[in-house]
Amino acid sequence: MTEVSRRARRFRDIFTPLPVKPIGDPALAHKKAPDSLNNHKYPAIIRRKKLCMLGIDSLNTRRAFIHQSSIAAAAIASRVFFHTMRGEATPLAPTLDPNSLARFVDPLPLPMVAQPQGNRAVPGKPAERAPFYRVPMCSITTKLHRDLPPTNLWSYGGSVPGVMFDTRSEQGLFVEWVNQLPAKHFLPIDYSLHGAERGTPEVRSVVHLHGGKTPPESDGYPEDWYVPGQSRTYYYPNQQDAAQLWYHDHAMGINRLNIYGGLFGLHVIRDKAEQQLQLPEGKYEVPLVLFDRHLGLDGQLRYPVSADPAHPWIPEVLGEVPLVNGKIFPYLEVEPRKYRFRVLNASNGRMYRLSFPEGVEVHQIGTDQGLLPAPVQVSRILLAPAERVDLVIDFGPHPGTEVLFSDEAFTLMQFRVSAPPVSDPSVLPATLRPVPRIAESAAVKTRFFTLDELKKGMSASNGMLLNKTRWHMPITERPVLDTTEIWEFANLTDDVHPIHLHMVRFQILDRRQFDAFQYMSTGKLRYRDSPTPPDPNEMGWKDTVRVNGQTVTRIIVPFGGYPGRYVWHCHNLEHEDNEMMRPYEVVASGS
Ligand code: C2O
Ligand code: CU
Repeated sequence: MTEVSRRARRFRDIFTPLPVKPIGDPALAHKKAPDSLNNHKYPAIIRRKKLCMLGIDSLNTRRAFIHQSSIAAAAIASRVFFHTMRGEATPLAPTLDPNSLARFVDPLPLPMVAQPQGNRAVPGKPAERAPFYRVPMCSITTKLHRDLPPTNLWSYGGSVPGVMFDTRSEQGLFVEWVNQLPAKHFLPIDYSLHGAERGTPEVRSVVHLHGGKTPPESDGYPEDWYVPGQSRTYYYPNQQDAAQLWYHDHAMGINRLNIYGGLFGLHVIRDKAEQQLQLPEGKYEVPLVLFDRHLGLDGQLRYPVSADPAHPWIPEVLGEVPLVNGKIFPYLEVEPRKYRFRVLNASNGRMYRLSFPEGVEVHQIGTDQGLLPAPVQVSRILLAPAERVDLVIDFGPHPGTEVLFSDEAFTLMQFRVSAPPVSDPSVLPATLRPVPRIAESAAVKTRFFTLDELKKGMSASNGMLLNKTRWHMPITERPVLDTTEIWEFANLTDDVHPIHLHMVRFQILDRRQFDAFQYMSTGKLRYRDSPTPPDPNEMGWKDTVRVNGQTVTRIIVPFGGYPGRYVWHCHNLEHEDNEMMRPYEVVASGS
């Protein structure tokens, strides 16, 4: 290991310690037919003001919280060095040290709920109508902290996170996603990445509903991007169980920048079974969207780059500044009773290790794809990018106190528990819903994939691959609709890669360490231990799975839903944008 890569490793370890195990001895150019729903030209400028009025800063509209303060006192420069795995270290312009900011001075903002604008006939069922929403993507400025000047961000509907969809299972909905973004990007594009070549429009966008069982034409295929002034209308059937999904940008080659810029939001699906459980609801159910950013002293986003101007891509972005629902160190006033917190990791690359102070009882009731079979008491929660956890926390025993919610690397926010006793009709049920384990014998096929790091020289990373295959190579995975498969991911790298499959939900079978060095030199798979079952809080339906370094992780996937072309990828957005993504196609049986 060179000194630089050792330092790179150390830098990363500070933020996301990885299980470091010593290694033993040493697409397809597709063209889609124009869809009649789509390619609708939108009068970009005229509608812009009106459409983006939607959000502004949801905090300001919720509570008239006005406080002026000088940033000069608070902003103390910190200097961050990015040791890229290409082997160079690039100083990022002085960045804001979050420790210089006052804590818990901003109330936690809550995303605004999207409101439908009429309805439309359901595709294939002209007699049925479904609500129609229109959401603009636009450039906004918003305050991330009381003492910072407003920050430029890109938003769905006027806030970051964007407007929240609060929907019901079985009730489909249309969303017209209107690209009203500026013509120039505000973050550094790497033109050497596939799909982001010079000549391609700089600002491109396409929306994907993460965790949605969505027909392919509405799934937001990475190459189906469109430019400012255009829109697409997608239909989400919502034929799936209650869960907290999220939507975000998926444009080929710049996805990491668009999401870093703020293009993500929540999509909650509710159903009867869940409602009957009497979980905390209404103002006692609170979404917590976690993300991290680098900010300049001017409060503006900084996206780190490598020292090579021709290849600015770097393999991992871990922001210094933690945000919850778009605020730095917010607080939330709560009553001494049970709350439901629905947590999403919307970070580009950070894996959180979440915790509450000792003595505060935390139960996890759900995973990415909805409720667990039964609540699981948790103390530390690992949350990789794109994963979600659904928590019930009882502040009942802690009246009149302040409770911190933290990650290993930093404090995230504060809960202020009021003192007077309140009644709490909500319930933490002993059982939630059945999640029958799928027998391995149900699988008609097992596929084995490696997760690889592309090396450039001895230590420099040039990107990651799935099964040593680049994005544009022909489709190799064609599961048959309504059959079940086992997918095995052998991670040859030392990093955790959160692997996500579109359209489906799956269960984790097990994880097992293996000798990656031997595999790479001889092709032999030698396990180092026996298989470990998923953690108790992973025993529900998932759509994203942590694949640990030098470990084979197995999942079992029923490919129910719709035939057509989808993608699967690593949800570390820097990896995803640089070839760690592949198309796959669900084929109708008998075809
Ligand atoms: Cu959040 Cu392709 O996914
Ligand atoms: Cu990855």
